Amino acid sequence: MKKSIKDYDLKGKKVIIRCDLNVPLKDGIITDDNRIKESLKTIKAVIRKSGKVIILSHLGRVKTLEDKEKNSLKVVAERLSELLKRKVLFIPETRGKKVEAAIKNMKNKDVILLENTRFEDLKGSKESKNDRALGKYWASLGDIFINDAFGTAHRKHASNYGVAKNLPNGVGYLVLKELKFLDKAIKPKKPYVVILGGSKVSDKIGVIDNLVSKADYILIGGAMAFTFLKASGFNVGKSILEKDYLKYAKDVLSKYEDKIVLPIDIVTAKEIDEKTKVNVRFINEIGDNEVGLDIGPRTIKVFKQYLGDAKTIFWNGPMGYFELKPFSKGTKDLLEFISNTEATSIIGGGDTASAAINLGYQDKISHISTGGGASLESLAGNKLPAIEVIDEKE
Ligand code: 3PG
Repeated sequence: MKKSIKDYDLKGKKVIIRCDLNVPLKDGIITDDNRIKESLKTIKAVIRKSGKVIILSHLGRVKTLEDKEKNSLKVVAERLSELLKRKVLFIPETRGKKVEAAIKNMKNKDVILLENTRFEDLKGSKESKNDRALGKYWASLGDIFINDAFGTAHRKHASNYGVAKNLPNGVGYLVLKELKFLDKAIKPKKPYVVILGGSKVSDKIGVIDNLVSKADYILIGGAMAFTFLKASGFNVGKSILEKDYLKYAKDVLSKYEDKIVLPIDIVTAKEIDEKTKVNVRFINEIGDNEVGLDIGPRTIKVFKQYLGDAKTIFWNGPMGYFELKPFSKGTKDLLEFISNTEATSIIGGGDTASAAINLGYQDKISHISTGGGASLESLAGNKLPAIEVIDEKE
């Protein structure tokens, strides 16, 4: 078992918390603050215990000066301050005298957020390549390191891996919760039903390969279903197709015929537009000029039958182009259905998490992960380096 925030006396200690405050921004405005909200528990715990909070986070990917302009954490500091109902001192630097002076002046319960750790990527990818000196430098700013950035746990970066190597460390409450639910998805109560969607088969291969032996059924929707449907011999019109994965899909289907459940009907349209005319087609009726954009009503019914018996459900990837209302029914209906079952339901981050939150199901699902990439890596059977590096409890 990993060490955690619960194992440390935090009073008067400078606690570096690595959060994943990588929130979506549109024209400089935060469009979804869920990751900030989910980070509050650990930050508040350090404040309650009279520690000094120093937060590190990345935001977006920073390769150019233009990226730098767009990805300052200042706006995040403002939102965090509102949610915490206390001042968050934002330091627009990732290192140097300003940072050191601000930390030196901290009193117990103060909160500081440093600028985007990926600004260090501009010259030599120091953050993303886990530059040793950078990890050591950040560690020198604190007494204890708490990793609460589950969303970035599959990355071996200076701000999560490098700092941990150089300080007494542990995981925070968000990571503890994520690990608890990942465990339920890896050692599930049966029947176990996995729902996979989204656009790419290629993103889900690791999960399919790892979970196919544990799951009773894998229900496949979203655009990735078209690669499987094509591999089964159906015309998929202009739907998204990954030609390079047709053989993989064919092999999986023939090996696990009894476990993989594909759509039987599809909502199609000639264009991706809110006002376009939509059709419901059986899978052998998709026209050459049509794009498949959601699972159809009969498929929803079939998927619900499988889900109704499940004790554990893991879901990654929406069933359709849910951002547009005419194609959101598959995702919405399954969310509604799952939220009324007794099963432990786990949504593996990314677009499905946004759909669940935006459509109002946040409190009706057992767990909505804050990390799409990290939960997929973990369910594919891979280790998460930023968690691995945390000390074990003696
Ligand atoms: C995410 O949004 O998945 C995490 O914050 C990790 O971001 P990254 O894929 O840019 O490393």
